[in-house]
Amino acid sequence: MSKRFRVGSAIVAILFLCLPVVGQQKEPSGGRRSGSIGGNGYREASDYVVKRLGLRRKSVVVDIGAGDGWWSSKIAEKLGVKGVIHAGEVEQKKVDAMKEKWEAVPQIKPYLCPTDGTGQKENSCDLVFISKTYHHFDKDTHVDYLRHLKKVVKPSGRVVIIELHADLASGRGKEHAWRPGRLCQQAEQAGWMLLRCELIPGSDHFMATFVKPEAFAEKLSRGLTAAKRKQSKGKQ
Ligand SMILES: C[S@@+](CC[C@H](N)C(=O)[O-])C[C@H]1O[C@@H](n2cnc3c(N)ncnc32)[C@H](O)[C@@H]1O
Repeated sequence: MSKRFRVGSAIVAILFLCLPVVGQQKEPSGGRRSGSIGGNGYREASDYVVKRLGLRRKSVVVDIGAGDGWWSSKIAEKLGVKGVIHAGEVEQKKVDAMKEKWEAVPQIKPYLCPTDGTGQKENSCDLVFISKTYHHFDKDTHVDYLRHLKKVVKPSGRVVIIELHADLASGRGKEHAWRPGRLCQQAEQAGWMLLRCELIPGSDHFMATFVKPEAFAEKLSRGLTAAKRKQSKGKQ
């Protein structure tokens, strides 16, 4: 066997051994990594998530447990210059870091929020977005928190909650996961209506969207009346 052939074979063998490692790094968010604590695999579907939020150019959004403000920045991209996103955090150092990081994005307004509420005024928000933070709320306070959100959110507004699906979590991830059924039950108890609950594509996280039933019923009946009027006009 020539020396050149042996060196070539060795290189091919090393590349082959490296392949699974490269594959793991590129693993889509449905892989184990996304379920691990601090794993951000679900962020890979951010375009899909942001599209589902029902944002308008002038929307007022509250991002609770904003962390590093990553979701706030994704949402800010969708809002016009008149849109606002209040990025709430319970840790002052995270608020300070966000202020520095997102200085050039005026729509993002980092602030220190209480642990038991948003700190926002009644009837002031179009959307409250809570990603991987609901499970951090104090034990037995979840329904009260959701009741508080009913006051803060405008009649036509919504709440979107993202969590790691408890059935898909493993190891320490289980401590940072939630059951969609439990969330929906708590939200219903607080007076919210489930609009949809779905797994984020390619991920082990779910996203639940809630609306106010009163406003939704009114909007629905207005839509039905308009459709009937259009239909009867067509018949004449
Ligand atoms: C796992 S991180 C999620 C960060 C970000 N939302 C995301 O999805 O990447 C949870 C964050 O919630 C914050 N947090 C914990 N309890 C909170 C509460 N009661 N109200 C608001 N934020 C809270 C923590 O400081 C932390 O930054």
